[in-house]
Amino acid sequence: MLDFAIGIARESGHLLRARLGTQLEVAHKGIINLVTDVDLASERLIREAIATHYPRHQILAEEQGLSETRSDYRWIVDPLDGTTNFAHGFPIFAVSIALEYNGETVLGVVYDPMRDELFAAERGSGAALNNRPIHVSGTGDLSSSLLSTGFPYDIRTSRLTNLDHWSNFALAAQALRRTGAAAIDLCYVACGRFDGFWELTLSAWDTAAGALIVSEAGGRMTDFTGAAFSPYKPDVVASNALIHGQMLSVIESGKTE
Ligand code: IPD
Ligand code: CA
Ligand code: CA
Repeated sequence: MLDFAIGIARESGHLLRARLGTQLEVAHKGIINLVTDVDLASERLIREAIATHYPRHQILAEEQGLSETRSDYRWIVDPLDGTTNFAHGFPIFAVSIALEYNGETVLGVVYDPMRDELFAAERGSGAALNNRPIHVSGTGDLSSSLLSTGFPYDIRTSRLTNLDHWSNFALAAQALRRTGAAAIDLCYVACGRFDGFWELTLSAWDTAAGALIVSEAGGRMTDFTGAAFSPYKPDVVASNALIHGQMLSVIESGKTE
């Protein structure tokens, strides 16, 4: 099933790459939350492939939600992570595919077609980038760390803007980045390009694959309180494990209530 997931991630990634910079049909799911015809085409391709190869498996994908099939297996799919980037021709985006068995993520694949980087992990077998084992960074000090985050689509109306955490981390870390694709952020933690990542309002399709890749690369995943990570919780802290406590302290110190 890992080979299947890799094959389909590559196929849909090539579709994304071919459509970058072309005329898109763009619709709004919210004031700043876009969906393009390419998100939909990529999801269609992946759903059809799963339905053909594993007709009894359930699918949870961003654009069309949960399929009605009941199964111990659930594919969790983001057909285009980084839609805002994609719609602007900014070349950071990915396809993210995870497989859950009995509620536990057993494999995860994230494919970045612009760099031809394929991140993959199977539970218990480590994580790899283009078939080479990857590991989180060895940075033990938040002040020397490169961190990443993202901002919610309802930033204009929600209390949870992440701007407070952004300010606090900007003062505590070496530098901050905002790639615009949470699946990429997580994979960059897994391979040591980032030392840590946090975000407040993510969905299972953003994190399921990347979280397994981080864990299998030796990193740590929790929620904002330090409790166990779940792709079904919106708040995520990912790190190389060494700076995790320092990241949680910054989050805790910024609490206003
Ligand atoms: C978004 C990206 C972004 C993150 C948002 C996500 P989408 O996914 O991962 O980095 O900040 O929270 O919703 O909409 O491009 O698939
Ligand atoms: Ca996403
Ligand atoms: Ca998406």
